[in-house]
Amino acid sequence: MPSICRYYSKRSFIIPSVPGFGTKLIPKWDLHGSVLELCGFHPGFKYWSRGALNPLRKYDMLVDISLSINGTRYSNSIEPRTLLVHYLRDTLGLTGTHEGCDTSQCGACTVIIDGRSAKSCTVLAVQADGTDVMTIEGLAQNGEYHPLQEGFWQEHGLQCGFCTPGMIMVLHDFLSQTPHPTEEQIRTALAGNICRCTGYNNIVKAAQYAANKMSG
Ligand code: FES
Ligand code: FES
Repeated sequence: MPSICRYYSKRSFIIPSVPGFGTKLIPKWDLHGSVLELCGFHPGFKYWSRGALNPLRKYDMLVDISLSINGTRYSNSIEPRTLLVHYLRDTLGLTGTHEGCDTSQCGACTVIIDGRSAKSCTVLAVQADGTDVMTIEGLAQNGEYHPLQEGFWQEHGLQCGFCTPGMIMVLHDFLSQTPHPTEEQIRTALAGNICRCTGYNNIVKAAQYAANKMSG
């Protein structure tokens, strides 16, 4: 049962001690009677969690997933609790997808899953098993920027750039369904994405630039 780790204030696992495994093999870790309390912030957790002696693996608590990301197939064994945004950033190193709020409010983590935009902080990586995912890294083709990327450049649609990958991915989905949007429709499409810098006007202009270019 998950609990709160007393040292790192993070959710932790309670793992029953395993005869022949637990206490002797991992003596420096946090032991409470007959149970071992761990969270991802304990030193050495990542090293240990990948090892052959990992009790999660022993009890089949790692899950195999296989999915296509930007046209490349990836297969990994992950903890079921892993969020898609963490899988992309921490496991695969695709750090173009940003994590702002982790509570489904800012939209910085938006990616495309099977053609539709989704906030990857609200999707478990296991839920994306078997899907086609596109991240900001997959947008440019053959060294050429996508019209949306061009639009943000031409219309000064970014300042710090933190929100930009999420803005572009949600607009990518939106423009595929609404090739000739009104300004109001663009603003509605962006309602789930927060920018702290630009005031939004230039982001709307960037979307209009892309819509014009993509519709010829
Ligand atoms: S990090 Fe996903 S919505 Fe903010
Ligand atoms: S450009 Fe800074 S948050 Fe949008």
